[in-house]
Amino acid sequence: MSGLDTFAELESEVRSYVRAWPAVFERAQGTKLWDEHGREYLDFFSGAGGLNYGHNNDAMIAALVRYLQSDGVLHSLDMATTAKRDFLQRFDEVILQPRGMSYKVQFPGPTGTNAVEAALKLARKVTGRQTIVSFTNAFHGMTLGSLALSGNVAKRESAGIPLEYQLTAPFDGEFGAQSDTVAVLDAMLADHHNSVAAVIVETVQGEGGLHTASFEWLERLAESCEQHEVLLIVDDIQAGCGRTGAFFSFEPASIQPDVICLSKSISGSGLPMALTLIRPDLDIWSPGEHNGTFRGNNAAFVTATEALNWWNNDALSHEVQRKSELIRRELESIAAEHESLRATVRGRGFLQGLHTPVDGLASKICSGAFERGLLMETSGGAASDVVKLMPPLTIRDADLERGLAILRASVVASMH
Ligand SMILES: Cc1ncc(COP(=O)(O)O)c(C=O)c1O
Repeated sequence: MSGLDTFAELESEVRSYVRAWPAVFERAQGTKLWDEHGREYLDFFSGAGGLNYGHNNDAMIAALVRYLQSDGVLHSLDMATTAKRDFLQRFDEVILQPRGMSYKVQFPGPTGTNAVEAALKLARKVTGRQTIVSFTNAFHGMTLGSLALSGNVAKRESAGIPLEYQLTAPFDGEFGAQSDTVAVLDAMLADHHNSVAAVIVETVQGEGGLHTASFEWLERLAESCEQHEVLLIVDDIQAGCGRTGAFFSFEPASIQPDVICLSKSISGSGLPMALTLIRPDLDIWSPGEHNGTFRGNNAAFVTATEALNWWNNDALSHEVQRKSELIRRELESIAAEHESLRATVRGRGFLQGLHTPVDGLASKICSGAFERGLLMETSGGAASDVVKLMPPLTIRDADLERGLAILRASVVASMH
């Protein structure tokens, strides 16, 4: 067997990206990947948000190689290791303290859904209540607790059992720009005040169509949670780690979530790692009450500590803001030039895209981009009606402009 046959023969039918991008990838560096025939692809996907600093960043790889060659401990559950201590200290110094944030760090299993499950369990334990409120079009992961929060019916059905102890509230803008969805949430929380443990929110809905919460809406949401004495969990797994400009996506809003979930780009290198950040007085776990074999992925801690060097100052954040304006302008111009797309621009920072209600068009545009050497996926749940741009935060202007030109060409071709 050669080429893609091996995957068709031996890998489960559940595989998906390989169907959209039928190539066997071999190497990657920065914003580029190469397949086994040497064909180059520009990356506007960034490992679904797991590679915010690009592929195989030199400093991270050097730190990792040094660690491996010094026989550094690779696997340690939640034993104390030097790699974990270095990470905890740097995270506190570079991220938490400068922002005046005080959180205890829980290392759950190494994926995003692990961070969410830990948050849900803790919220239920702290409050003694069971229901979690999530939002229309939300996505928080594929294990049963986080899947129960999903707004995607097909994904929910894959559970094969009823998903309970969850209520759906309308996200910002769900009923149009003018409607006040926090008022709906308020009414729900008043009705269910004895049963709701927490509200969980993404500031930009990465999988669910790039619907974007305004900072004012987030502030009012936080007030509502406080008033009804329910916890506020921000799932910053996709929108965090600088994806929208600031390290935490909610920083421009004056809110202090009770619990924050991080994963994807926290290791910086694509190695699996996740964190559940807990307001200190809520950290009522008993030792070992929540655990997991792969909580101590030290190789990820090493690259995560290195990745924090990007946050020693505001330079990356400013660059993301500058380049995201360029992305916005280009998307708005594409939408304006091609009326038949009926497109609108959604998202924030390096998590923006074009929504088009024309059936199948977003997927067609992304397929066309692949043919032209650009990796870009759709968002929007079952409808897949958003062309989603997620380049590495470290992309150079020339590559960004080249990718945007390929997107434009793919849009034009998709209409013939
Ligand atoms: C906002 C959000 N939460 C949670 C998850 C789940 O993360 P993982 O796939 O690592 O379990 C994702 C994945 O896309 C996500 O975007």
